[in-house]
Amino acid sequence: MLQAQGLSVEVGGRLVVERADFTVMARDKVGIVGRNGAGKTSLFKVLGGADEPKEGKVVRSGGFGYLSQDPRIDAALDARSSVTHVLSGRGIDDEIVRIEKLRIAMEETPDERNVGRYTRAEEEFRISGGYGAESEARSMAAGLGLPTDRLDMPIGTLSGGERRRVELARILFAGSDVLCLDEPTNHLDVDAKSWLMGFLRQYKGALLVISHDLDLLDEAITRVLHLDRPAEDDVGEIVEYRGTYSQYLRARADDEHRLKRKAAVQSKEIARLQGVVDRFGAKATKAAMAHSMEKRIARLEGQRVRAPESARTIAVRFPDPPPCGQTVIEASGLCKAYGGPPVFEDIDFDLGRGERLLVLGLNGAGKTSLLRILAGETTAGLGHFEFGYQVTAGYYAQEHDNLRTSESLLTNIRDAVPPGIDLGETRLRGLLGMFGLSGEKVFQDSGTLSGGEKTKLALAMLMVGRNNLLLLDEPTNNLDPASRRAVTNALVDWPAALILVSHDIDFVRQLAPTKVLLMPDGDVDYFSDEWLDLVEMS
Ligand SMILES: Nc1ncnc2c1ncn2[C@@H]1O[C@H](COP(=O)(O)OP(=O)(O)OP(=O)(O)O)[C@@H](O)[C@H]1O
Ligand SMILES: [Mg+2]
Repeated sequence: MLQAQGLSVEVGGRLVVERADFTVMARDKVGIVGRNGAGKTSLFKVLGGADEPKEGKVVRSGGFGYLSQDPRIDAALDARSSVTHVLSGRGIDDEIVRIEKLRIAMEETPDERNVGRYTRAEEEFRISGGYGAESEARSMAAGLGLPTDRLDMPIGTLSGGERRRVELARILFAGSDVLCLDEPTNHLDVDAKSWLMGFLRQYKGALLVISHDLDLLDEAITRVLHLDRPAEDDVGEIVEYRGTYSQYLRARADDEHRLKRKAAVQSKEIARLQGVVDRFGAKATKAAMAHSMEKRIARLEGQRVRAPESARTIAVRFPDPPPCGQTVIEASGLCKAYGGPPVFEDIDFDLGRGERLLVLGLNGAGKTSLLRILAGETTAGLGHFEFGYQVTAGYYAQEHDNLRTSESLLTNIRDAVPPGIDLGETRLRGLLGMFGLSGEKVFQDSGTLSGGEKTKLALAMLMVGRNNLLLLDEPTNNLDPASRRAVTNALVDWPAALILVSHDIDFVRQLAPTKVLLMPDGDVDYFSDEWLDLVEMS
């Protein structure tokens, strides 16, 4: 069970949650929603005990599992195999190491004492279900899209998405009584996502999950806590609703609609009466009538309802791309390996001006590696590629690796301006502002931004680059639904070339790619809607 009592959470001097009370019991499945930067992750940190509340307290009972929005497995564990890391969720890894030590001791000195110690330990392990636990861990990991051969690899050799899955598998395997998951479906393909939703549906503990993923919110949860903080200066309020997220949205939209209409009717009536007063008020004969009308106006003003603010929307527009040659990029024979067998080889493709290439492939097929090669972040083992005449490419990295976390937003975006181009502070702030990053926020350390805000900063930085080719690796992760729509609309109208990795099916459908590249085989085909079924899988 998890309980918040009069809980207030403060971040960077702002109250993002004020005096919240809620209880999450075993079998409760609670979705936490709210715009980017509302304070969801900050609330989670307090619920999980990583940060102190400003006021009030958190009561927890039982074991506690927490997946952060941006889980980084400690680099000190890089040499550890992934399956060991998953098993460490229940401390089983230590037992395995202990038994292995006893076995070696027994082999070296096979006396009665050593044989006895090994036999006893091994038997205990077997009886307590140790071997079963390992196969359970493996099947959970497989559900999340980590096949057994990847699980036996050291953590250090896994891709960012795979590390995230390993961490998620460890947390689920631990079997905690309370689970707090921050955006667990980021980087999951459709199979892993439906496995996770199935797991969460039958999970017997208390679940809190932060998500912008409407499928998850509609299928795996039974209650919504909306962290409502419409604007940066507002104090956050927790609005609770029983039911799915779609039901909640409808109920809220109805409320907003009803109150807005009422407010509009009232305003109109007040304006009408005021008009009458203004016309007759000056005439002595009508003064008494005007006076009584003024009273009526005052009464109406007193009863006036305030229409709730609907979610603020952002409007994004990309600058026109500079002109370039007919061919944007030509690649041939690209190959990448990380020590072992190649992740992909013999990748050939070309792209013309304004074309959009969708890169498809299952997890680990090398989509991010390919984009990093094209972005110049790493080199291909074999093969080469060439940009066309006057092509400049901008790169959006999946894990925001190219943000300088100890610098402000303004410094980051200023550093993204290509040499020879002069963009003043007003213009740069304007670009950040399009994404809702305005006011004092532009001076904040980028490392402290929320997940969605980091995505927005990275996208704003792409806009100053005067690019006519964008390499986009999962650009819609972390974005709240309104921001996702704004970014999608901006890109749909943008006439430059795109090379795109995404499993966001609506995003891909709207962008209407011209070509697909299938990884790791390297087949290139024209895009049609039939490919959309594959998008969610990649
Ligand atoms: N040290 C800090 N100084 C100033 N502001 C901060 C600091 N740390 C966090 N913030 C701000 O607090 C707000 C809440 O952040 P939080 O990560 O909790 O948001 P979130 O609701 O999880 O958003 P998202 O949906 O984007 O993940 C954000 O606007 C963030 O920029
Ligand atoms: Mg967050």
